[in-house]
Amino acid sequence: MKLLLLLAAALFLAGCSQGKKTNNLDGKKLLEQKCTKCHNIDLPPKTFEDEKAPPMMAVAFHIRSFIKTEDESQRIPKAVAFVKDYVINPSASKSFCDKESLKTYGIMPSQKGKVTQDELQAIAEYMFSHFTEKNLNEAQLLENKLNAMPKGERLALQNKCLSCHKVDKKIVGPAFRDIATQKGNSLEVLIHSIKNGSKKKYASSKGAVMPAFKKLSDADVKTIAEWILSLKSQKDEK
Ligand code: HEC
Ligand code: HEC
Repeated sequence: MKLLLLLAAALFLAGCSQGKKTNNLDGKKLLEQKCTKCHNIDLPPKTFEDEKAPPMMAVAFHIRSFIKTEDESQRIPKAVAFVKDYVINPSASKSFCDKESLKTYGIMPSQKGKVTQDELQAIAEYMFSHFTEKNLNEAQLLENKLNAMPKGERLALQNKCLSCHKVDKKIVGPAFRDIATQKGNSLEVLIHSIKNGSKKKYASSKGAVMPAFKKLSDADVKTIAEWILSLKSQKDEK
């Protein structure tokens, strides 16, 4: 249960965290707007057969490690300066890409006129603060934990159901285990309530209502409802 809370918090933070701001520019947003046409920016990255450019995590990792500097405190400022220059004046001689990759991708087309130096400063600062070993490890741990959960629980977490429901404890909505053991509740009833919402069914909710989740797919709603009902038998077994 602690783990779940932690995961919920981590997801919440991930969903809401803003990029670091330079001159009030949001590097994260700008990166999404200006660079994702070619670079994948997921962490860990997704790779495709016919990708147009190396994933941004790879770009950030390898610029950070190839930049030459005697003074370690200058590594990030130098890496930022490299990005600001490269995006406007790309060339084979400057690129840190190996020859084979350069041949596959081709040199990056200059983005001159499409992005300003201030915007690049914000983008690059975000890149080197976000694409780090630490964040990669954390993202991978979270992904492993999500993969280890029953699919219904994962969907409930990802769709923010767990901000109002816990398995064993009433918060805004009734505990999922109490919903599972509520007289008359069946798979059909739960599916109907998740899709259309529910109110005044549980005295314990004191007027709080269950919003309708119209956008969830039928398959996902069914998976979540089955998971909720499965909590009932887990209790019986104990
Ligand atoms: C039209 C496609 C395209 C867009 C848009 C694009 N890139 Fe690239 N980028 C590439 C390709 C292809 C490469 C790999 C070849 C190379 O190094 O030039 C690359 C490489 C790079 C490199 C050098 C990597 C190295 O190892 O030397 C940096 C830095 C970079 N991109 C940053 C950016 C940023 C920041 C943006 C958004 C402002 C961006 N790119 C937008 C295609 C693109
Ligand atoms: C904003 C808070 C909130 C969110 C978010 C929320 N619920 Fe609820 N849920 C409630 C409340 C309150 C009730 C009790 C309503 C009542 O008394 O009829 C409830 C009731 C339910 C019931 C019982 C319905 C029944 O017919 O017995 C199910 C099942 C349920 N929620 C599933 C979910 C799932 C799945 C999600 C995510 C897709 C979710 N809830 C998201 C507040 C919420």
